[in-house]
Amino acid sequence: MSRTLKGLVLSGGAGTRLRPITHTSAKQLVPVANRPVLFYGLDALHDAGIREVGIIVGDTQAEIQAAVGDGSAFGLEVTYIRQEAPLGLAHAVLTAAEFLGEDPFCMYLGDNLLRDGIRGLVEEFTRSGPEAMILLQHVPNPSAYGVAELDGERVVRLSEKPSEPRSDLALVGVYLFTHAIIEAARRIRPSARGELEITDAIQHLIDQGLRVEPHIVTGWWKDTGKLADMLEANRLVLDVIGHRIQGELTETSIEGRVLIEPGAVLIRSAVRGPAVIGAGARIEEAYIGPYTAISDGCVVRRAEVEHSILLAGSRIEDLDARVEGSLIGKGSTITRAPALPRAYRFLVGDNSDIGIV
Ligand code: G1P
Repeated sequence: MSRTLKGLVLSGGAGTRLRPITHTSAKQLVPVANRPVLFYGLDALHDAGIREVGIIVGDTQAEIQAAVGDGSAFGLEVTYIRQEAPLGLAHAVLTAAEFLGEDPFCMYLGDNLLRDGIRGLVEEFTRSGPEAMILLQHVPNPSAYGVAELDGERVVRLSEKPSEPRSDLALVGVYLFTHAIIEAARRIRPSARGELEITDAIQHLIDQGLRVEPHIVTGWWKDTGKLADMLEANRLVLDVIGHRIQGELTETSIEGRVLIEPGAVLIRSAVRGPAVIGAGARIEEAYIGPYTAISDGCVVRRAEVEHSILLAGSRIEDLDARVEGSLIGKGSTITRAPALPRAYRFLVGDNSDIGIV
């Protein structure tokens, strides 16, 4: 008899590649089309029939917990599991051993997004009954990921971020496991980066002669750990949004699909979708171009923004050049100082990245 899968969502990790945003905020809560990226994963688990979900948390526990609560908003029962230090994905599995018990589970990295969800994959896993099912996708830069080598339908070898990858098949951050992975995670040693790698634990299953099935993902997949991927994920999700205007528009033109939340005010502006504008945002004499997500309470005044993400409460005012390809942190302000001499004036966080053209 097959058991119902549990979910194990990884939402610890320092998010070093998204600094400075992640100095003050969990990377899994950075919004894609104005929704934390983590929420898409929780929806995907629910859609696949999973109800009991453990969320692995670290230093950002309070923030994750405030956003997700007891999970009921997602139709889930959520248990928080504290990982004292980010010691690797297999270490996270061991940390969750008690929660997982003997049940099979879907491990979902909280910063991953899969267009087609996981319902079909969970069905296939349950029907076929391997010890593990790994999701793979052809990528142009495999050495940034775990990489799989296949022989037909058989997984021969996995390696974590190899400098000389033996294929272009990256491991997607969504895995289906039976509890055999827990024993495998107990057997492995830390990698060169000092982590217990899930990649090594899966390799251990292969070495034991256990069945590990590959599944190549054809719909888009994004690991949103870096700025370019975050913007790309934003673009892909905005590509499929609907059209709904609830804000207040004065002398403003709208083209294409645009979501404007209640309480947003747009005055003498132009919006070209796909774009989302959050509740209470104020857009004045501005242009909002395609693939822009403006969070709640932002202000854009006499400025142009395109292909960018503005986090809650940020403000862009009086700029000559268009802002594009940007991720603007919560409560940040970018504006022209009126005083002469004309100069740039910054108060910029650690690890910021500013390009002036
Ligand atoms: C992790 C895994 C890697 C996988 C990637 C997918 O890497 O270790 O095998 O390809 O997630 O998002 P990380 O992002 O933790 O460096």
